[in-house]
Amino acid sequence: DWTMEAYKEQAIAKIRAQVGSGHVICGLSGGVDSAVAALLIHEAIGEQLTCVFVDTGVLRFNEAKEIVELFRGHFNIPLVHVDASEMFLEKLAGVSDPEQKRKAIGGLFIDVFEAEARKLGEVDFLAQGTLYPDVIESVSFKGPSVTIKSHHNVGGLPARMRMKLVEPLRELFKDEVRALGRELGLPEIFVGRHPFPGPGLAVRILGEVTKDRVQILQQADRIFLEEIRQAGLYDEIWQAFAVLLPVKTVGVMGDGRTYEWVSALRAVTSVDGMTADVYPFESAFLSKVATRIVNEVRGINRVTYDYTSKPPGTIEWE
Ligand code: XMP
Repeated sequence: DWTMEAYKEQAIAKIRAQVGSGHVICGLSGGVDSAVAALLIHEAIGEQLTCVFVDTGVLRFNEAKEIVELFRGHFNIPLVHVDASEMFLEKLAGVSDPEQKRKAIGGLFIDVFEAEARKLGEVDFLAQGTLYPDVIESVSFKGPSVTIKSHHNVGGLPARMRMKLVEPLRELFKDEVRALGRELGLPEIFVGRHPFPGPGLAVRILGEVTKDRVQILQQADRIFLEEIRQAGLYDEIWQAFAVLLPVKTVGVMGDGRTYEWVSALRAVTSVDGMTADVYPFESAFLSKVATRIVNEVRGINRVTYDYTSKPPGTIEWE
């Protein structure tokens, strides 16, 4: 795509002009936006960029590993990998309110990221994968408004980190970011990734988040997505994930009675996440996923499918 190639060259020139000989730090979240921003900046200024990936412990199964392998292995871009999962779990202990979870994760994320930045010494710029719709939203939603959910985007860092911002995606829409990602050699499986919320699995485990619950949810979620990919449905869906309801229900397995938790599956189509429709799976597909989850994941003995559109439901359960 020659237009995207031209855009890329222009963006690279702009980054070089802005940064000069300065040092840039970029937080990777695992999402497309921060990955594309990092790749672009790396093409522009090479070793003047340091990428930092903070593992919050509430990512999907294997996700942290995949990001590290992509950057270090595939692209050979140096990456600081901070495994902060124990710290995040500690911070989340005893917290069940959704907004309190977001605050806990957002706050700790900033602390951990800042500490890494300090270790690096002289850092002049902070890179962010801000898109055009983010720019519009933050302008038009100013003024008194009711917060339905505070969206602590991992990677969205506060002004108190006194660094200038590098935001090379500010003029782009999501599909343009994806096209730029392809232009930069980002593998297709990464380019087409579903959006994933900053607070991650913490808002998909209702009530308190524990290590046990995270591991159980990761397995159910992995199976659901495996089946979706295998059925060739991934790209038709905006977001698909499992939710863990730590409510015990009775089941039967072999000659035994089980008394375990419930998982709800959620899959929606959407254009921008503001409204969403339920994805109409065939019932045989859902049965297969339910059977696999109950057979393969210890701790879950019942699976339901969420049939609520947005509105009135939200996409996430918390
Ligand atoms: P809801 O649940 O509000 O979600 O219908 C709309 C979109 O926003 C994502 N989402 C979040 N993203 N931090 C994020 O970065 C958050 O706290 C958060 N909460 C929801 C959600 O996954 C969906 O794409």
